[in-house]
Amino acid sequence: MCGIVGYVGKREAVPILLEGLARLEYRGYDSAGVAVLNGAGVETRKLAGRVAALRELVDREPLHGRCGIAHTRWATHGSPNMTNAHPHADCTGTIALVHNGIIENADVLRARLERAGHHFATETDTETLTHLIEESPGKTLEERVAAALRHVEGTYGLAVVSADDRGKVVAARRGSSVLLGVADGEYFVASDASAVLAHTRSVVHLADGDIAVLTPDGYRVLDGDAHEQDRAVDAVEWELDDLALGNFTKGDCTSLRRVVIVACGTSWHAGLVGRHILEELAGLPVEVEYASEFRYRRLLPLAGTLTIAISQSGETADTLEALRAARAAGARVMGLVNVVGSTIAREADAGVYLHAGPEIGVASTKAFTSQIAALALLGLYLGRARGLAVETGRELVKSLVALPDLIARTLHLGAEVRELAERYAGARNALYLGRGVSFPVALEGALKLKEISYIHAEGYPAAEMKHGPIALIDAEMPVVFVAPRDGVYQKVRTTMEEVRARGGRIIVVTTEDVNGELDRVADHVLRVPLTASLLSPLLTMIPLQLLAYHIAVRRGCDVDRPRNLAKSVTVE
Ligand code: AGP
Repeated sequence: MCGIVGYVGKREAVPILLEGLARLEYRGYDSAGVAVLNGAGVETRKLAGRVAALRELVDREPLHGRCGIAHTRWATHGSPNMTNAHPHADCTGTIALVHNGIIENADVLRARLERAGHHFATETDTETLTHLIEESPGKTLEERVAAALRHVEGTYGLAVVSADDRGKVVAARRGSSVLLGVADGEYFVASDASAVLAHTRSVVHLADGDIAVLTPDGYRVLDGDAHEQDRAVDAVEWELDDLALGNFTKGDCTSLRRVVIVACGTSWHAGLVGRHILEELAGLPVEVEYASEFRYRRLLPLAGTLTIAISQSGETADTLEALRAARAAGARVMGLVNVVGSTIAREADAGVYLHAGPEIGVASTKAFTSQIAALALLGLYLGRARGLAVETGRELVKSLVALPDLIARTLHLGAEVRELAERYAGARNALYLGRGVSFPVALEGALKLKEISYIHAEGYPAAEMKHGPIALIDAEMPVVFVAPRDGVYQKVRTTMEEVRARGGRIIVVTTEDVNGELDRVADHVLRVPLTASLLSPLLTMIPLQLLAYHIAVRRGCDVDRPRNLAKSVTVE
């Protein structure tokens, strides 16, 4: 998952490309590069590192030209270094290309191209594209790109320039999002709208198989056989109405027979909380599926099923494909998405925008909170349509309305959590345990610690602990319990005793109505305010997010751009 940007117009391209690239850095940031077309042909600057470092390089070694492309990378094939950074070139250095996606038959293509005499300079799958274009027939760059892409298996969002066809950027899409930015006498290519919004709100979303040709005089969209394609120009309005359930009527709610939630990572954890909420409020059976597994399963007919794709970015490839697979199996599909105008939002039949605001840090935090709040609202909506008592609904609405103050109070635990972080920053492993609606919180707490502090951590259903993980318990193992006083609290207490008996270090996140009774069994007790048990994850999650944060800071980790990760996973 990488970010690509392209520009052609009347202004200097480099400042525009770098500014756009910086907005796409959440997609990957292990290396970056830029190429422009000018009197000298194609000139490229690239390095291992962030867009900021590329900007310094270009300041030292300026590049001029009104037509160019740029890339920020999350390595899939070939380690993150200067050589493998994009843009990639062909043998003659006439072509420069940036790519987001995976060329699945790259090995076969490379072997064939090398036998044909092409010299490869990198370890990447992407470089096969430049050599394929180099040897493809065609008078124009777009003809050669179309010819080359006929041999390609896999996914791509790409932009390419050539010194043989100047003043032109050619872009193409299959599987990875690509849009065009349309302005007066200048045109942009980008992986998503955030990279062009500083210049225009008029965008053209490319569809799979599209090839776009941009020159200062305008843009054209073609299919693989050079037939003109008519694509709508959308206006990017970041303030779309909150709850756009589309044409999802009361009748649809009552006729539903089950819900399938598809998601990845933190969104999958929110889905697990969502299962408790939707089953309890709407009385619907809910399955929560890893999107990456769901998309390759032989799906049985899904008529009468609502499939909810949960995705902060709205671009996660596995979740997008799972949504498409569910629709193909007959399900109604809706998106629970934060990024307005993202692919999942546009492809779903209906949807809910989180409006959590742009989530910059790679580790998802406020999106998790907002996903659970939105699932509670959805649960109320479906529940009321399916006979949920108005009183029950009102009670939950009251609890939701009270949450902002309770969250503010929970944040007061910051100082206590920072002290804990000091004590456990040296841990090598950690175990997070919870039951019921708190099990997903344990999973998410472990994921946060893993993602930003690189400490190995596992989330586990508390009762499962005695079926194996208990073997890990010793004086070095911090065990974090998520144990609000709810229907399974006493059961979790028993597990605490089992850990205490084996010398484990116990940290408990519980509710304020639990007084000193845990002081004997736990080393540290963090108390969050009381709320409805279905909503307790919105409070119990906060100390765990803070703990991961302070431990990561204590260990000197880059909390916003953790190693090996990226914010939006747009490849398989
Ligand atoms: C969470 O902190 C991670 N960034 C990752 O697990 C993320 O939740 C996952 O990639 C799903 O992303 P999405 O919500 O944008 O689809």
